[in-house]
Amino acid sequence: MASLTVRGLEDAVKAQLRLRAAASGRSVEDEVRTILREAAGRPGDAGREPAAPPLDSRPPSSKTAEKRVTLIIGGGIAAFKALDLIRRLKERAIGVRCVLTRAAQHFVTPLSVSALSGERCYSDLFDPDSEFDAGHIRLARDCDLVLVAPATADFIAKMANGHADDLASAILLATDRPVLLAPAMNPLMWANAATARNIRQLTNHGIQLVGPETGAMAEAGESGLGRMSEPVDIAGAADTLVRPARGAGALSGRRVLVTAGPTHEAIDPVRYIANRSSGKQGFAIAAAAAAEGAEVALITGPVRLSDPDGVGVTRVESAREMLTAVEAALPVDCAIFAAAVADWRVAEDRAQKIKKKAGGGTPTLQLVENPDLLATVAQLKTGRPALVIGFAAETENLIANAKSKLARKHCDWIVANDVSPEGGVFGGDRNTVHLVTADGVESWPAMAKDDVAGALVKRVATALQGAAAGV
Ligand SMILES: Cc1cc2nc3c(=O)[nH]c(=O)nc-3n(C[C@H](O)[C@H](O)[C@H](O)COP(=O)(O)O)c2cc1C
Repeated sequence: MASLTVRGLEDAVKAQLRLRAAASGRSVEDEVRTILREAAGRPGDAGREPAAPPLDSRPPSSKTAEKRVTLIIGGGIAAFKALDLIRRLKERAIGVRCVLTRAAQHFVTPLSVSALSGERCYSDLFDPDSEFDAGHIRLARDCDLVLVAPATADFIAKMANGHADDLASAILLATDRPVLLAPAMNPLMWANAATARNIRQLTNHGIQLVGPETGAMAEAGESGLGRMSEPVDIAGAADTLVRPARGAGALSGRRVLVTAGPTHEAIDPVRYIANRSSGKQGFAIAAAAAAEGAEVALITGPVRLSDPDGVGVTRVESAREMLTAVEAALPVDCAIFAAAVADWRVAEDRAQKIKKKAGGGTPTLQLVENPDLLATVAQLKTGRPALVIGFAAETENLIANAKSKLARKHCDWIVANDVSPEGGVFGGDRNTVHLVTADGVESWPAMAKDDVAGALVKRVATALQGAAAGV
């Protein structure tokens, strides 16, 4: 039974229950369970199950226990994304208890929130039907993380000023758990000096942020910095905070290098050649490797993603810069090349913008080949990583091309994915990949990029253990 709600009890009975719970060192909720077990003729059960410590002193759950998040949904247009966020958290075996602010209820209903979370949704600080002990204290502390998504400008201001006049703000003031905010607002609200000051104050006090991202706003025609991070990224950041057991994972003591994103190759000082890679898959791999305890160096081309928690990030522009950063990050145990590095760059380095010719005509761009990062590292004579993995983004003959890439580049594995526009892989949250190794081809089902990352990292850990054991 996830929770227990008893309505319509007289105040005198509630008071008696509180006293009885305090005397036995249980929460009121657990005291009621004990009474119910006794009434059902199973007095022994109460003895068998150790009394839960009072909720106020309960430590965050251990690594093996289910993790819990108190999710506060603020009153912004991005509140609809909180519904997907609940699903994403639950996919990661994180229990979600939701609190809606008054304004949030204009955007999503308590009914849909509780249906998705599978738990009662809370919104009222003075809820007579709430469970008996002080609800805001329990919601603040009976969790491993308090997550606010969307965190509106108004809610951020309330937090920065220590307000506690509704359930959500009272929880934030009463919690001793880590707090993660996913801000979401119009770019001008985000850029406003008052919001900047509030955010500075909160981050100075240890509150963490995921996003915001740059992108289109709900308001027609507006875009800029202020868009809430995607639910999959917020869930990843929350997971990292509730399971921070660095050094205890399957990649503990290993160094992993990951490249991600596109590269930009300058045509002249204002124009460049690029591709549609979002960097999401590489970032997810870096986060998954860090979650398994690896020391991770993530080298990324220009992307609109925030740094994964616990990962060393180097941001570069061009293929040549990426190669320099990769070489600087060596030696590593495993190198995963998920970046979509441009094959060619413009031969001429131009200091000035190419001008339109008065009489018409188009400029001719002479292209030259970029360095091949995957082949360079896979063919190192000394200091080659034990495992070198490339990504093959193809639009046709996927497996055949991946097999020939494996042989040509002398890497150990290729992760092949179809990036035809209809598949929506570039920029999307899901991926269908085939793992091509010397042993053959393994086709994985369509998965969230986070799940592809998790599965790949598990395989890497197994392979590195095998290599160390000489298998
Ligand atoms: C249609 C609509 C969309 C809104 N979207 C946002 C938003 O994305 N971010 C934000 O900070 N405020 C937004 N607001 C303003 C908030 O709803 C308002 O500041 C509210 O008091 C925030 O409540 P909260 O503190 O419970 O989050 C929006 C208002 C409306 C009417």
